[in-house]
Amino acid sequence: MTEERLQKYLASAGVASRRASETMIQEGRVAVNGKVIRELGTKIVPGKDQVTVDGKPVQPEEKLVYLLLNKPAGYITTAKDTHNRPTVLDLIADVPYRVFPVGRLDYETEGLLLLTNDGEFAYRMTHPKFKMMKTYVAVVQGVLTPERLDMLQNGVQLEDGRTGTAKVRILRKENHKTVVEISIHEGKNRQVRRMFKAVKNPVLELKRISVGTLTLKGVNLGEYRYLQDDELKKVGQRLGLHLSNGGN
Ligand code: URA
Repeated sequence: MTEERLQKYLASAGVASRRASETMIQEGRVAVNGKVIRELGTKIVPGKDQVTVDGKPVQPEEKLVYLLLNKPAGYITTAKDTHNRPTVLDLIADVPYRVFPVGRLDYETEGLLLLTNDGEFAYRMTHPKFKMMKTYVAVVQGVLTPERLDMLQNGVQLEDGRTGTAKVRILRKENHKTVVEISIHEGKNRQVRRMFKAVKNPVLELKRISVGTLTLKGVNLGEYRYLQDDELKKVGQRLGLHLSNGGN
């Protein structure tokens, strides 16, 4: 939980300078969760604690933030689930920003999921015209023959249209299974699973390992981190956006 001193919070929310904010606190004009605070050392959690000045709510200045989560299987990529299953937001409960997932991974799929509060970034990352490459490792049933590999690479017919070209390579062959790396630049619903099903090698396990230049490096399963400036610079250049991770 990122705590912040009350006077610093007031200053960053544009209420007044830090010194003037201190004076306001001492004058009893500031309340936290309904209780007047006169102590200058008080810390609050931006976005969680309700702060008012002269009875009026202070809106935190929304910083744009970008998180990379290594999603485990068994988490749903929505804010609320009607079946009460765990959601990816449960894994980032200590993040003091209201972020949402960029695209989605299936309940059973693992791996790289971005979360942000930057709508334009999310739009560009997921819009097909930006052709953002997403790479997955799939464990599929059976032997992936050269003919089927070619079909996947050239595009397969799904109910909602033909898939674009993909890059596919076999990583390992195991007993009755094949481990395959596949890169696609579209994002149809359950696309990778449906592509492999179409060539009769159903997916047994699926993990997304990269999106564009972003990878899971250094992030354990179930953990997250803020994107670094150099990563944001690269992805921003690709999307035509100037990005930085609001102070994190
Ligand atoms: N393709 C799928 O089939 N599932 C995912 O979660 C992502 C891509």
